[in-house]
Amino acid sequence: MPIYHHLGQLPPKRHTVFKSPAGAFYYEQLFGTVGFDGMSSLLYHLHRPTQVQAVLDPVDLRPSLAVEHNIMSRKLIGFDVAPVDDFLQSRTPLLVNNDVVIGVAAPRQSLTDYFYKNADADELLFVHRGTGTLHTLLGQIPFVPGDYLLIPRGMIYQIAFNETGPADADSTGNRLFYVESTSPMYTPKRYRNHFGQQLEHSPYSERDLKLPQDLETHDERGDFVLKIKKEGILHTLVYDYHPFDVVGWDGYNFPYGISIHDFEPITGRIHQPPPVHQMFETKACVVCSFVPRLFDYHPQAIPAPYNHSNIDSDEVLYYVDGNFMSRNGIGPGVLTLHPGGIPHGPHPGAMERSIGKTGTDELAVMVDTFRSLRLTTQAMGIDDGVYFQSWREEGK
Ligand SMILES: [Fe+2]
Repeated sequence: MPIYHHLGQLPPKRHTVFKSPAGAFYYEQLFGTVGFDGMSSLLYHLHRPTQVQAVLDPVDLRPSLAVEHNIMSRKLIGFDVAPVDDFLQSRTPLLVNNDVVIGVAAPRQSLTDYFYKNADADELLFVHRGTGTLHTLLGQIPFVPGDYLLIPRGMIYQIAFNETGPADADSTGNRLFYVESTSPMYTPKRYRNHFGQQLEHSPYSERDLKLPQDLETHDERGDFVLKIKKEGILHTLVYDYHPFDVVGWDGYNFPYGISIHDFEPITGRIHQPPPVHQMFETKACVVCSFVPRLFDYHPQAIPAPYNHSNIDSDEVLYYVDGNFMSRNGIGPGVLTLHPGGIPHGPHPGAMERSIGKTGTDELAVMVDTFRSLRLTTQAMGIDDGVYFQSWREEGK
């Protein structure tokens, strides 16, 4: 995150002696990404963060692929993915390539009896339903529906939901949409100045960020299970000390939240292209927020998008709420995939319906990937199978 943040106690100068009031050393850790070129933070631990006690049997989490070469537009019913107790097991990969994993999750229980780290990818969790708190070794972030939680690779975390237990399969429980990106996920560079500050034309500002707070420092010895995802394999390591033993940290590499409801839409006299909706960028994909907004105000404007050929990217839309103006038969929790290589556009009647309308209450997250997506076996289980024909005119 290109702003400086700090929590807890710090020595006045980096890489110098830092001790507790009782005289015990604190142990410094540089936590960076992209070698020594990316953003980094300096952490001070009560105990050396290297004390591995045991390594248990790994579990293969690599997605099972059903369609490796896809040219069909797809409609996936995300809320048909059944709730699962465990947070990691609830995560259901749907669309994948070598850069990203896109999926949904309906966790019934909080992740509190072990710790988790994704060593492969930055994780973007979008909270569709549910409230709770993300606990990390750098502080806590309370969340509510509409929040994006961006967790840089390597962050150790747990997640607590305020409502747990049995959930109806029709989506009354916790619901997440997530993206794992092997390329670091940042705010778009064009929104920032030379110093990293969000510019005036940016649809959100630093004040909208939910920074980690209330650093938890645990001084506990025991058997602490840390599950680490690396190259698609889930490794289980047991550490001697509680992973959340940081007494202070500062820097630029930390998890944060931002609400989709704090994204200020950019509108125009005629239709604005998707980049005005951009929320995050990576080398693997872009993430956009479609939020309630006034429509175009030219007297002859057509608010619905034109047909477009996203020839270089696959487009994934996750529908959150409201009436999505360019699509028929779409509800919350539905994902659509519009593959690169063929054009897509408004459904029959949608363009005509949009003329003269003054606004939309649609809420959706879009992920455009730069490499083609493959469908997992779980995706095929919730694919409606006919969406690719949904642009045909009646009677044909
Ligand atoms: Fe599109």
